[in-house]
Amino acid sequence: MTEASTTRWNNNIHYHRRILDVVPAGARTALDFGTGNGLLAADLHARVPDVTGIDIDLAVLESARAEDPGVRWIQGDVMSHPFLPESFDVVASVATLHHLPDLDSTLTRLAGLTSPGGVLAVVGLAKSSGAIDFLYDVAGLVQQARYERRHGIWEHSAPIVWPPPHTYGDVKRSAARVLPGSTWSRLPMWRYLVVWHKPAP
Ligand SMILES: C[S@@+](CC[C@H](N)C(=O)[O-])C[C@H]1O[C@@H](n2cnc3c(N)ncnc32)[C@H](O)[C@@H]1O
Repeated sequence: MTEASTTRWNNNIHYHRRILDVVPAGARTALDFGTGNGLLAADLHARVPDVTGIDIDLAVLESARAEDPGVRWIQGDVMSHPFLPESFDVVASVATLHHLPDLDSTLTRLAGLTSPGGVLAVVGLAKSSGAIDFLYDVAGLVQQARYERRHGIWEHSAPIVWPPPHTYGDVKRSAARVLPGSTWSRLPMWRYLVVWHKPAP
């Protein structure tokens, strides 16, 4: 299977690679929460056999269904949908964490869905709040202009929340509290990456 995002570009799709790169060898199950148009779920499905995409918004899920009929598409709230605990080898998302107001309880819920030996990988966006963030934002402007000239920009149709309620620092501190051993990276085009490998028993 080819990856769904190879023909389209925006700064969410751009960072799919950062998630795909940490999928554990032999992963069997994956969850893309806040799947939107379903591109990350479809990209995961190119390497993981059993993929679920969940989104609370019915309209955007219709477009996701057309993206890959082999993914299990669910309309629901990732916080309350009755998934089995620890049932996903990969729990991932792009640009969704800021839709869920309480960082600690959301990360706790996602960690609970991740199987032992599995990975939680989140690309998100947050509010800039200090000099380092603003330096990243300037670098992002330059980088995004270059990519847009080369690829154009693909507009998604998923609901958005703007401005994001948390700062980058808030997310970094919450990840350190809830996901011990997780790594945090600030990414230039208004994004961050959190990766947490759940210890195997
Ligand atoms: C900005 S969009 C990102 C969509 C997609 N991941 C992308 O990269 O284009 C965030 C998505 O999260 C969904 N969402 C928000 N809260 C949710 C929740 N509690 N459970 C599941 N999906 C949720 C929204 O409906 C929206 O489609």
